[in-house]
Amino acid sequence: MTEPQGQRIAVLKERDPGETRVAATPETVKKLIALGASVAVECDAGLAASLSDEDYRAAGAEVGPMEAVLSGAQVVLGVQGPDPALLGGATPGAWVVATLDPFGQRARIEAYAAAGLEALAMEFMPRITRAQSMDVLSSQSNLAGYKAVIAAADTYGRAFPMMMTAAGTVSAAKCFVMGVGVAGLQAIATARRLGAQVSATDVRSATKEQILSLGAKPIFVENVAGIEGEGSGGYATEMSEEYQKAQAELVSSHIAKQDIVVTTALIPGRAAPRLITDTQIATMKPGSVIFDLAVAQGGNVEGSVADQIVERHGVKIMGFSNTPAHLPADASALYSRNLFNFLSAFWDKEQGKPVLDEEIGDAVRLTQGGKVVNPRLLA
Ligand code: NAI
Repeated sequence: MTEPQGQRIAVLKERDPGETRVAATPETVKKLIALGASVAVECDAGLAASLSDEDYRAAGAEVGPMEAVLSGAQVVLGVQGPDPALLGGATPGAWVVATLDPFGQRARIEAYAAAGLEALAMEFMPRITRAQSMDVLSSQSNLAGYKAVIAAADTYGRAFPMMMTAAGTVSAAKCFVMGVGVAGLQAIATARRLGAQVSATDVRSATKEQILSLGAKPIFVENVAGIEGEGSGGYATEMSEEYQKAQAELVSSHIAKQDIVVTTALIPGRAAPRLITDTQIATMKPGSVIFDLAVAQGGNVEGSVADQIVERHGVKIMGFSNTPAHLPADASALYSRNLFNFLSAFWDKEQGKPVLDEEIGDAVRLTQGGKVVNPRLLA
């Protein structure tokens, strides 16, 4: 047996009970080894994503219990941030590469710093062209937008497409997508593929063209100051009071005619904006379904509860705390490619390890040298 060479990369089994994804697949293990790294994967890490320990071994990984996997690791890969208390065996200064929920898990970030670990938050990847293939928010949101529509369709007591049968006509479902980022665009496309009549809205006027190009109808607030709604990195900003009032009126009249509503609106670093109130839900037809993709960030919909179907005024309101985890195999495949693309883009052949540049390094790095260093957390 040859000694492992180069960087030792550890892949942990996720510990959150609802987390089914894994941060490396046999495909990315092979690619990491081809870069010159050695990869150790915790037993059963890929089980929930239909990946066996045997598959990882065949790809060249060492498979073993957590302590063995972490021992001497220079890079630890995770989907969610691993508990810092578990990482004692890692090399001092080791990287922890995962979605770390920097605003929500501040104490954990401080603990990475105290442990001398370098925590890299993948959700802080800048939205620049060269980082698109490393963007975990995009890869996971895309799948989430798809799953939201599929789950809503499954809960809806009627069909999506129009059907003309000998027993009569079934009319097409009317589906309204609120928030047209990555998830919203995929929700529109999915609802269209299922045969629904689709409309959509966003605060960023640039999305109008995108909605039209997918064959859906844009529903937009016009002639109100602050219509643009686009801040840095293409993200939404918080809207003026006047805009919010006009939007609420528009939504109220439109929503009453909808069968399915999918909400996806997020504002980075803040609670999700409230888009639908209980009073508005009361105007909808009984049997309608609302899927709140933002439920884990505080919810776009009044009364939504993660992982439950809440019935209000005959309308079913639903949302998952972790939507990509409902598609573990694809979500893991895309997420792990994002991580591989990140590590490989910065792989320094001479040093045999990844070395970040300033633009991306400063954006994703949360802790270094025992301190929290990210400007977004220090502000
Ligand atoms: P997000 O997940 O932060 O938010 C989802 C959507 O909700 C956004 O379109 C946002 O404008 C909208 N929204 C926020 N408040 C709202 C409100 N009150 N009412 C209605 N809609 C509201 O957004 P996501 O999916 O991360 O995409 C944001 C932008 O970033 C998009 O323009 C996307 O094309 C761009 N992007 C750029 C990438 C790159 O260049 N590397 C990669 C991925 C996305």
